Amino acid sequence: MDTPSSARTPALDAMGPAPLTGLRAPLVDRRGRVARKVRISLTDRCNFACLFCMPSKEKVHWLPREELLSFEEVERVARVLVSLGVRKVRLTGGEPLIRPNLEELVRRLVRIPGLEEVDMTTNAWFLAEKARALREAGLHGVTVSLHSLRRDRFRQIAGMDALPRVLEGIEAARREGLAPVKINSVAIRGYNEDEVLDLVDFARDRDISLRFIEFMPLDGRGTWDPEKVVSGHDLRAAIESRYVLLPRGRGDGETAQRWGFEDGRGEVGLITPITEPFCDDCDRIRLTADGQFLTCLFDRHLHDLRTPLRAGATDEELAERIRASYDKKPAGVQYLGDLRKTWVKPRAMHAIGG
Ligand code: 5AD
Ligand code: SF4
Repeated sequence: MDTPSSARTPALDAMGPAPLTGLRAPLVDRRGRVARKVRISLTDRCNFACLFCMPSKEKVHWLPREELLSFEEVERVARVLVSLGVRKVRLTGGEPLIRPNLEELVRRLVRIPGLEEVDMTTNAWFLAEKARALREAGLHGVTVSLHSLRRDRFRQIAGMDALPRVLEGIEAARREGLAPVKINSVAIRGYNEDEVLDLVDFARDRDISLRFIEFMPLDGRGTWDPEKVVSGHDLRAAIESRYVLLPRGRGDGETAQRWGFEDGRGEVGLITPITEPFCDDCDRIRLTADGQFLTCLFDRHLHDLRTPLRAGATDEELAERIRASYDKKPAGVQYLGDLRKTWVKPRAMHAIGG
């Protein structure tokens, strides 16, 4: 699809045709949504096994290592995506820090002209030992997944007795100056919904932004049920039982509705893909660890980039493939109806990239 010139930034148009070498018209789908952020999964492996993400330890099949993109290949795809208008990269997994020398990839990515930010979502197991190297390599922020502050419950949810180490990781990230440091919590009925206020206080004490995410039917065990979703509405009610929340809105393309507190400390975000989807202005795309391009978390189609990449495709050819796939981005999760009946996930969350 040809992009109307009005969708380009004036700065690009003012440059005239010659300096545009290497730059292409932005990725725009048929609903006018422009891709600005990519989540790049670096491995489907994780040393945790969160019950809303992984299959059980006995049932999990990891992608063969040779199928994972090398750092060179990730950088190559990232460069093509940036030439197509992508401005932010978030590294995810599985657990991204399982890839040895991740700071080397960060160093390569932050050098890409036009890329504004490289962040990472992590379970924080390796964060205390890696925070400094990552910051020195140019990583901006980290988002740590933290679903409970009770050690036994953390172990029950994540399958690993890791709470003390995760908390150390959060402190190390703050100390080393990674910014922003955020926390993601998936609230699940019957598991941790009674900890909403404890998590809020933990984050406020540290002036950290906390995001609650509604449980999505992407879990590897297939136990998702609408009854287990703690809705944004319920989360807000729980927080408002102690605090007055001040609305900060949801920025264009943002996933979280953000709320501040009267004393200005901390911030809470509610990410509500199930009860209040935000697909209409979505600006995100995904790349799996094995080089499959996904236009949406709820895309049924994995668009293979690894095969052409390894067969010697040019940047132009990769860009065209990405453009053609992006044009088919699904309208959004709200159009899927009853997810229990309509939704068949192609993979579990850890193999898509959270
Ligand atoms: N539903 C909602 N969030 C999930 N995550 C993993 N699986 C699910 C799920 N089924 C979270 C991770 C991570 C974030 C990117 O997604 O905990 O913090
Ligand atoms: Fe690992 Fe994150 Fe999935 Fe938990 S949610 S199993 S930490 S990838």
